[in-house]
Amino acid sequence: MNKKEMLYEGKAKKVYATENPEVLLVDYKDDATAFNGLKKGTISGKGAINNRVTNFMMQLLEKEGVPTHFVEELSERETLVKKVSIVPLEVIIRNISAGSFAKRYGVEEGIVFAEPTIEFSYKNDDLGDPLINEYHALALGVATKEEIETIKKMAFKVNEVMKAFFKKLNVDLVDFKLEFGKVSDGTIVLADEISPDTCRFWDSTTHEKLDKDRFRRDLGNVEDAYQEMMKRILGE
Ligand code: TMP
Repeated sequence: MNKKEMLYEGKAKKVYATENPEVLLVDYKDDATAFNGLKKGTISGKGAINNRVTNFMMQLLEKEGVPTHFVEELSERETLVKKVSIVPLEVIIRNISAGSFAKRYGVEEGIVFAEPTIEFSYKNDDLGDPLINEYHALALGVATKEEIETIKKMAFKVNEVMKAFFKKLNVDLVDFKLEFGKVSDGTIVLADEISPDTCRFWDSTTHEKLDKDRFRRDLGNVEDAYQEMMKRILGE
């Protein structure tokens, strides 16, 4: 399928139209940002890794009954996806304290929760993606009650599937961010990406961080961590 005009360039991906109005082409970049674009850099090979890892996870989730936007992997960095209208919420699930949760509540990282948590951020770069609750999301017309219920159910299901999958790879799934979209008939599907950019992965034995925190916190060996996660996930 031919790439047509570029519709959108985000911080980590470019999105192109295709001949099929229901299908878009995503092209993953090596660019990395953190803190709402304040920190910028490149993670060599990241685009290809995130493309392959995301597609692997989307197909695993489809098999487990979670509808996703995935259509077909075209090349190292390019994938066809269903055209969706993105629900402007970042859906964050946490199994272990880390990142903004640890900071906000003044607790150390690494507390294993008895139950997973969920929170939403309003996807708006100008506002710095502020936290938002369900009532505020409804008031702003971001989603309907039913859509929010569907999204919550799907997000917890994704967590159960991913937690079990990563446990077998000796990786603790600390937390992750999901985005959902609506296809033309209004069905909610999982969209965007699932990768070391959007998840926290800790080695279960050494607790070594194997995700974008290595870039955010200048921990070094960023490329190695991405490679290691790809190797474990794809079994290569
Ligand atoms: P946080 O602890 O900084 O709120 O991040 C929670 C999870 O969400 C973590 O796995 C990283 C991911 N995340 C994104 O994918 N994009 C973002 O812009 C942010 C802030 C976090």
